[in-house]
Amino acid sequence: MGKIRVFRCKICRDPYIGEEPPSRCPFCGALGCYFIPAEEWNPSEYIFEMSDISKANLNAALELELSNTAFYLCAMNAAKTNGDEYGYAKFKALKKVENEHANAILKFLKINQPQLKPVPCSKNFEKNTQEGWDREDRAIKAYAKFAKEAPEIQLRQFFESLVEIETDHLELHAENLKK
Ligand SMILES: [Fe+2]
Ligand SMILES: [Fe+2]
Repeated sequence: MGKIRVFRCKICRDPYIGEEPPSRCPFCGALGCYFIPAEEWNPSEYIFEMSDISKANLNAALELELSNTAFYLCAMNAAKTNGDEYGYAKFKALKKVENEHANAILKFLKINQPQLKPVPCSKNFEKNTQEGWDREDRAIKAYAKFAKEAPEIQLRQFFESLVEIETDHLELHAENLKK
């Protein structure tokens, strides 16, 4: 066994205890390459003057993340009602990750989490999986654009990482839609 250490995710900024960084952040889903030893953490990297375009794009991203969090919460409850343990686990994990993305955005915007507005969903796993795919696809396209537009290296990295994470989700949905 290796030595137990503390790492931190550069995307959601949360700490993680383990021998090695995980392949995906258990909180925000970022790839393991975004983890650094906690001793090397430099908080000044997160203090910077933010451009108007990035502020606007972060606000748009926040809307997407809150809506997706509320959608996956609905899908999670629908699966629970159906006694579908796999669907429950999948949508719960997605809800947690999207909520973490909203939180990470709030840290950049330095505002508190607004109330989650309920979003409707289907009672059916396949339909919710299809809508999840559509939502992830929209998010990926928006974040790829936001990454290109960001003058700040921190936000370019942040949006690029979100593209990778939402692509994981897209692939998961696609896998579930294969008959
Ligand atoms: Fe993370
Ligand atoms: Fe997300």
